[in-house]
Amino acid sequence: MALIQRSLFRFIARRGVATTESAMATHSTVPKMKTFKVYRWNPDKPAEKPHLQTYQVDLNECGPMVLDALLKIKNEQDPTLTFRRSCREGICGSCAMNIEGRNTLACLCKIDTNVSKQEKIYPLPHMFIVKDLVPDLTNFYQQYKSIKPYLQRSSFPADGKEVPQSIEDRKKLDGLYECILCACCSTSCPSYWWNQEEYLGPAVLLQAYRWLIDSRDQATRQRKDMLQNSMSLYRCHTIMNCTRTCPKGLNPGLAIAEIKKKLALSA
Ligand code: SF4
Ligand code: SF4
Ligand code: FES
Repeated sequence: MALIQRSLFRFIARRGVATTESAMATHSTVPKMKTFKVYRWNPDKPAEKPHLQTYQVDLNECGPMVLDALLKIKNEQDPTLTFRRSCREGICGSCAMNIEGRNTLACLCKIDTNVSKQEKIYPLPHMFIVKDLVPDLTNFYQQYKSIKPYLQRSSFPADGKEVPQSIEDRKKLDGLYECILCACCSTSCPSYWWNQEEYLGPAVLLQAYRWLIDSRDQATRQRKDMLQNSMSLYRCHTIMNCTRTCPKGLNPGLAIAEIKKKLALSA
């Protein structure tokens, strides 16, 4: 019995070695070095101008997304590299940045595996920078707060329960509620670049529309009045960069057009 057990152990051990060896054989030993050029700026060194810093990452040892490469750089090469991230699956919106000229989420953006091409990574454009790839979103969030992004009602159901909504009315929120406020769209909009203090920008306007058409909301008049001026909404010139860049596939340009239509009809 003991002999059979020993043979079995030896067989399993040999199988283990063989499996490991074959796995190593299939794993390419030739490094696949990709060059990343990453925007750097440190507020603690104000005399140093912003610049692109070069990093090499072996794609054989790295996950498929740009966020994987940034994390690898930070963990193994340069802990000073600064960027935001949280969910790594396109939900939190915090890893928004400009990758190869396009505003997108680093966690949803695949690394271009063509190693002869460098990958350039900048923060979201036309924003004040906190450090490296981290933009200052203070103004963006204040604008979001200004549209009162929550249900406003003056009357409530007598039974103290929730305010019901029909299936049809609920469907009107599709394509709007999915917005993760990543700011990719607003920071790709030329009108927002030049009028950021007064123009609300596509992300916040999409949210404004989301509350305007919510059948349960009773502040429609106030919401419309707030947008009825020359800057908050009408700086949109339908350039549509916003819709082109949205990493969630939403259409803020259409939401803005719908608000304009609503204001025109109710004027
Ligand atoms: S509309 Fe799209 S790009 Fe704009 S903030 Fe929402 S998710 Fe981001
Ligand atoms: S459609 Fe309007 S909000 Fe969108 S990029 Fe153009 S100007 Fe900006
Ligand atoms: S890390 Fe959350 S969206 Fe990219």
